[in-house]
Amino acid sequence: MTSELTQLEQNNIPKHVAFIMDGNGRWAKKQGQHRLFGHAAGVESVKEIIKTAREIGIEYLTMYAFSTENWNRPPEEVMGLMDLLVQAITNETDEMHKNGVRLLTIGDISALPESCIISLNNAIAKTANNTDLTLVLALNYSARWEITNACQMLAEKVKSGQLLSQEITESSISDVLNTAGIPDPELLIRTSGECRISNFLLWQLSYTELYFTPVHWPDFRREEFLKALTSYQQRERRFGMTSEQLNETK
Ligand code: IPE
Ligand code: IPE
Ligand code: MG
Repeated sequence: MTSELTQLEQNNIPKHVAFIMDGNGRWAKKQGQHRLFGHAAGVESVKEIIKTAREIGIEYLTMYAFSTENWNRPPEEVMGLMDLLVQAITNETDEMHKNGVRLLTIGDISALPESCIISLNNAIAKTANNTDLTLVLALNYSARWEITNACQMLAEKVKSGQLLSQEITESSISDVLNTAGIPDPELLIRTSGECRISNFLLWQLSYTELYFTPVHWPDFRREEFLKALTSYQQRERRFGMTSEQLNETK
């Protein structure tokens, strides 16, 4: 382990870190380049963050790669993003597998182009038994869509007599979300200065620590990630209690 990593408190490493990878377009524009150039550079950041997370021992990374709202972008950008996705998944599946990374997706991938669905399904199947790190890609994802679906599923269960309405609990709701079985993120990182959630993981982020940085996603590499983790470790997660109560139980 490198010295920067040992500076992190080993007993306070988040299990799950979620990312809103924002700012690819602005990063490209700053250099007089096309937006897609920024998206391609963003893929390099994803690779570096996965590598660093493995070294640190983080178990889950969720990355917002394409929102339901992103279909509203110019068609050339949408197509460019889909091509980049296929390219990145195809190029990286073997490496992910070798490194013990399991790939999952959240969101409605059935609406993606067929080439994306095929490459994703291949990678998901190939890496299914890996246990070092789970990479969750949010694709055609929106939290309101996810929660609406969950309501429909629970309503069906009640209608068919499998469930009584008074038996609906927080955990039965979690179980019908796309993220069923994945712990809630302890930390959410959003790059590029925007301080909003943009329809991401609304249920799961209830008690997540939020970290916003002006750094654009293509510049968000190992050092910036370590800064975010250090900020996380300096926070007191009180969950409604008082600071004194937390100190008593230490
Ligand atoms: C994030 O960067 C990538 C996706 C949303 C797919 P943006 O493309 O949103 O970059 P900005 O916000 O326009 O700079
Ligand atoms: C959020 O970024 C979605 C992803 C990172 C995939 P956007 O750049 O689309 O978010 P808004 O629309 O500016 O909030
Ligand atoms: Mg953006």
